[in-house]
Amino acid sequence: MSEQLHPDIEFVLLSEKQIRGIVQDLGAQISKDYEGKSPLFVSVLRGGFVFTADLMRAVTVPCSVDFMAVSSYGDGVKSSGVVQIVKDISTKIEGRHVIIVEDILDTGLTLKYLIGLLEGRHPASVAVATFAVKDIPGCTPAIEPAYVGTHVPNEFVVGYGLDYAERYRNLPFVGVLKPEVYS
Ligand code: PRP
Repeated sequence: MSEQLHPDIEFVLLSEKQIRGIVQDLGAQISKDYEGKSPLFVSVLRGGFVFTADLMRAVTVPCSVDFMAVSSYGDGVKSSGVVQIVKDISTKIEGRHVIIVEDILDTGLTLKYLIGLLEGRHPASVAVATFAVKDIPGCTPAIEPAYVGTHVPNEFVVGYGLDYAERYRNLPFVGVLKPEVYS
């Protein structure tokens, strides 16, 4: 898919090539840090699935994957810090090294909740790998992930798993949406 030709994209923030480099670097770090271990990747749906698929293939240690789907609880206000588990993992994680995989960290409240939830199941360790952290002026995320691919500005970013109204997750690059698309 041509990066220039998508009509709803204002500009490309991260090209496919840049994304590949970011993911390769993270995969190499994780492979080094988990040498001799067999981590379980817990992919957070929906946004996390694209990054998870690439990250796993950039990791050389034996590993497995499971999926969790979450949504904001109650009134639908995003980032309330209380999340509803729509789908839980089926893997028993007691004694396992768990790496939660997210597409983007905004306030960090979703991940803070998930870390607490999974730690309650007595894994050997819990770490977070996020493809991107959104830099919001005046806002410090609630958690600090061990693995951060990149930082993105506080814009409407889509692609590589990130959506607007469930669209654009399939874009192979990360782009900023044209304002007229969402206003
Ligand atoms: C996004 C993202 C994280 C969460 C981050 O998910 O995938 O799960 O928001 O926000 P926070 O750091 O402020 O908690 P979203 O609710 O958009 O669902 P999706 O993954 O299905 O796109």
